Amino acid sequence: MLAALAAVPLALARSQAAEPVSQVVDLLKEMQTTLEKEQKADEDMYAELRSWCKENNDVKTVEVSDGQARIQELTSLAAEANASSESLAAEMTVLGKEVQEATAALDSARVLHGNKVETFNDNEKSLYKDIEAVQAASTAISGGEPALMQLPEGRLKEMSARLQDAVSRRAERLDNTLSVRDHERLEAFFKDPSGFVKGLSLMQTPIGGELAGMMEAMEDDFKVDLKALQDEMAKELKTYEELMASKKEEIKASEATKESKRQQRVEKRQSMMEMGFEIKSIEKAEGQVSR
Ligand SMILES: *[C@@H]1O[C@H](CO)[C@@H](O)[C@H](O)[C@H]1NC(C)=O
Repeated sequence: MLAALAAVPLALARSQAAEPVSQVVDLLKEMQTTLEKEQKADEDMYAELRSWCKENNDVKTVEVSDGQARIQELTSLAAEANASSESLAAEMTVLGKEVQEATAALDSARVLHGNKVETFNDNEKSLYKDIEAVQAASTAISGGEPALMQLPEGRLKEMSARLQDAVSRRAERLDNTLSVRDHERLEAFFKDPSGFVKGLSLMQTPIGGELAGMMEAMEDDFKVDLKALQDEMAKELKTYEELMASKKEEIKASEATKESKRQQRVEKRQSMMEMGFEIKSIEKAEGQVSR
């Protein structure tokens, strides 16, 4: 445009020297108007371009800052989820240990109870045996059963030996029951049991009656012990069963809690992964915008 203006005087000088001045002035005016119009159009276009650029730039800036904010939010949410996941894992470890301990307690209670049952069975068996020994001797001495009078010598000796075993086994227990005289009578019986049961006349002798009374007292003692033993066992069994039930309940509850924590943890890990994907996709999208 400036070049065009500069060219005008040359053109006038060369080919339009003869034209009247007014025509030249008109031409110049027309050219000026055209130039002004073009300049205005240029300026408008420039302004428009400028404003478009500015707008576009602003939009881009907003997009970037939204993405950054979302990434920040996701990052802190992921860290929270990670912290939850970590503490859930720690809680699960504690619960696992609790289950292990309760299981160990259950096992040792089972072994202990097994030993107690075994001891009880032995003691009960031995008491029954001793009660039977006393009853057999008592029956023989009191002559309650005529058949016993015809007991062969060997069987009688055996019966006496069993009673002797019972008395010596429970000597401490019988300390309150048997007097020194009772022991002397028993010794005599052990030495020669047939002397006490052979003759029918024995039933009437005071010594036979005393022995029979002693046997009854001994039987009572043993039965009291048996009852105490059985009661104790029943109590032990009840305690054991309650302990077993409560430990099993405890284990079940701990396992259920652990399972629910495991599920919660899986969910946390899943959401962490999803947040990670979202962060990556925002970063990718922003990379495309800024390029
Ligand atoms: C989760 O937290 C633990 C402990 O703070 C850390 O060692 C681990 O790198 C974190 N994991 C993620 C994916 O952030």
